[in-house]
Amino acid sequence: MYLQSATLLALVSSTAAFNIPSPRLLFTNPSADKQAFPIPTVHESAVQARRILRLENIGTLSTVFPTAPHATERRPSDVGGAPIGLMDYFGDCEPTTGNPTILAITIATSFKNVDAGSNITLSLRWHPQDSQWRSPASLPRFSLVGRLEDLSAEDVKSQLVPACYVKHHPDAAWWLPGNRIHESKWVRLVVEEVYWIGGFGDRAYIGWIPKEEWLSVTPQEIESVRLPGEKKSRWSGWREWIGIGEAPEVFEL
Ligand SMILES: *[C@@H]1O[C@H](CO)[C@@H](O)[C@H](O)[C@H]1NC(C)=O
Repeated sequence: MYLQSATLLALVSSTAAFNIPSPRLLFTNPSADKQAFPIPTVHESAVQARRILRLENIGTLSTVFPTAPHATERRPSDVGGAPIGLMDYFGDCEPTTGNPTILAITIATSFKNVDAGSNITLSLRWHPQDSQWRSPASLPRFSLVGRLEDLSAEDVKSQLVPACYVKHHPDAAWWLPGNRIHESKWVRLVVEEVYWIGGFGDRAYIGWIPKEEWLSVTPQEIESVRLPGEKKSRWSGWREWIGIGEAPEVFEL
C-alpha cells in the first residue's frame, strides 16, 4: 500500500515536469481570465487540422448499423443502431478542398452502412514523428463529419487520384478500381462539420471548426505550421520547390 502511494506520488511529480494541466481542462477550454497560455484561434486550429490531414494517412471511419441486416449478411440481431468505428485509409488527394479521398471497398462494413443510409465521420489523430514522450491526451485529434460522394472519371484523371493515393498507400495498388479481387470505387468525404480537440484545454482550442474555416486554409498556411514532434519532412522538398523556407515550430508544446 505504502509503496503504491509512493509510486503514485512519483508519477504525479514526474507528470508535473511535463507541465500537464488540471484534468478539468482535458476536455474543455477555461474561461478567458484563467488562461495561462494563448489558445490558438479557430482558424489556426483549422490550419493544424489541414496539416494533419496532409501528413497522416490512416483514420477511423464511424458509421451506424442499419436496423435490418444487409441482405446477404448474418449478424447478431441487436446491433441495429449501434455505431462502429473501423480503421481505414485516406489520402489528401484533393488538397484545395481538404475533402479526403477514400477508396471504398463495396463489401466493407463502413460503406455498406452508408449505402443503407448511415451518416459517416472520419476521425484522425496526430502521431508525433520524433521519439520524445508526450501525453497522447495533449495531442491534436479531430473528426470530419460529412457525406460520401463518388469521384467522377474526370476528377480521378485530372487530379491524378490513383497516383496520389498509391503514394500514401503503396499496398492499395492491389485493390484500385478495376482489380480482380474486390469491387471498389473512389469517393470523397465532403466535409460538412469539423470537431476539433487541439490538446489540453488550457492551451489548445476545443470545439467546432466552421466549414468555411476548413475550406479557407491556403496551401501556404498548411506549409507554414509545424505539429508537435514533427520531423523535417518528406514534404520539405516540395516546400523548397514552391519557395517557402523553413517555418518556426509555432505549435510545439
Ligand atoms: C444523418 O444526419 C442528419 C443530420 O446531418 C440527420 O438529419 C439524419 O437523421 C442522419 N441520418 C441517420 C440515418 O442517422
